[in-house]
Amino acid sequence: MFTQRRESGAGSLKVLIIGPTGETRGAMRGVLGEVLEPEIVVEEIASDQPLARGSADADVVMMLLDSGNPPNFEPLQRLAQAEAGPKVLAVLQDGSPEIIRGALRAGAHEVLFLPLNRLDLSRALLKIDETRRGVLRQGMGLIFSLVSASGGVGVTTLTANLALALQVRTGKRVGVVDLDLQAGDLSTALNLEPVKTIMDLADVKQKLDSIRLESVLTKGPAGVYLLAAPKRVEESELVSSGLVVPVLDVMRQLFDVVLIDCGRYMSENTAAAWERSDQLLYVIDQSLGALRRTWRVLELLKRLGLNHIAPRFVVNRYSGRELISEAQIAQTLARPIFAKIPRDDRSLKAVLIQGRDLFKAAPKSALAKSVELLACKLVGDRPEKQSLRRGGFLKMLFSPQRAGATG
Ligand SMILES: Nc1ncnc2c1ncn2[C@@H]1O[C@H](COP(=O)(O)OP(=O)(O)OP(=O)(O)O)[C@@H](O)[C@H]1O
Ligand SMILES: [Mg+2]
Repeated sequence: MFTQRRESGAGSLKVLIIGPTGETRGAMRGVLGEVLEPEIVVEEIASDQPLARGSADADVVMMLLDSGNPPNFEPLQRLAQAEAGPKVLAVLQDGSPEIIRGALRAGAHEVLFLPLNRLDLSRALLKIDETRRGVLRQGMGLIFSLVSASGGVGVTTLTANLALALQVRTGKRVGVVDLDLQAGDLSTALNLEPVKTIMDLADVKQKLDSIRLESVLTKGPAGVYLLAAPKRVEESELVSSGLVVPVLDVMRQLFDVVLIDCGRYMSENTAAAWERSDQLLYVIDQSLGALRRTWRVLELLKRLGLNHIAPRFVVNRYSGRELISEAQIAQTLARPIFAKIPRDDRSLKAVLIQGRDLFKAAPKSALAKSVELLACKLVGDRPEKQSLRRGGFLKMLFSPQRAGATG
């Protein structure tokens, strides 16, 4: 499967290197390693090896042609002309016009020469990435799955608050799906009392379209729409990936952003959600147990063939006073921390007591600001200048004694 070159989301460009020897493939991999943009994941196979399951879904194939005169264009042609196949970058050892023409006629998207030039390669990959993103994004919302391997780290709270932040601060249309089917806590976190739930869609014989899906959503006061978990624990057994997959497809047609509370248990349903996610936000706290379990999940992703989905790590209930520091977490996981959400008991208490959402009950709190920042980061918006200019927010994040201050 594709190996990760650096931190990347499900949106990374998958590049497959095909070359006759380990040395030539290594040389191509070396230059790919220097490409700063776009984000890529790389795999390689020998020229005489068949495409394995998993490598067949490459976005780009970099194929080193043999040094014959002319080279054998047939493998290139087969790949480049396959229906919905990858874009093929032909890598040549010889730059004669006949050979370039031959490669282009065989279907090569671009022709590159050895030794590879980093800028040429980067330009070719950027072009492919831009086209691909354009196709992917037409009428399609982003899906973010929130998940953990430990109970009580704050997945549900963060899903709810992130949904509110996205809706209120970035103006996106936001839908949330409670796939933690047995717990079904998301409605409480959003202070909603759903009448209908995902169970009302369980009859898969009835066509699922946007009208049917909309009819079972619960709209919150801030404008966030919830697809609630079943009301009874035993009903969760009746929800299968056969239902979850079309539900998510329609949700992403209806909303700019879809957030999914995947809870802490791996199931057929959550795997289907992960697979469809643009990003997987993996919530941890500063405990050894959370770190240990994270390794197990990363390994599971690999075994499921989902290791191209690189989770983004969010440390929740962060406090500078905990024994395990941010740097130690990043070092242990060998991955960077994507976001830190401070521990803020006071603001969450205010939410409970007032029965209002975080952005009404404690809009200036460190918690609200950090969730807003994460929301902006996810959708590529700039955080509100005002909140950064005030300067207090960043200071509060890094100052443990102030992290609990409410607004
Ligand atoms: N940033 C935070 N600061 C302080 N308390 C928090 C924070 N985030 C969550 N909590 C609290 O932690 C508790 C657990 O949160 P939550 O239910 O969201 O976790 P979870 O991961 O969804 O749990 P479960 O595994 O049971 O689904 C709640 O009491 C919540 O109020
Ligand atoms: Mg939960």
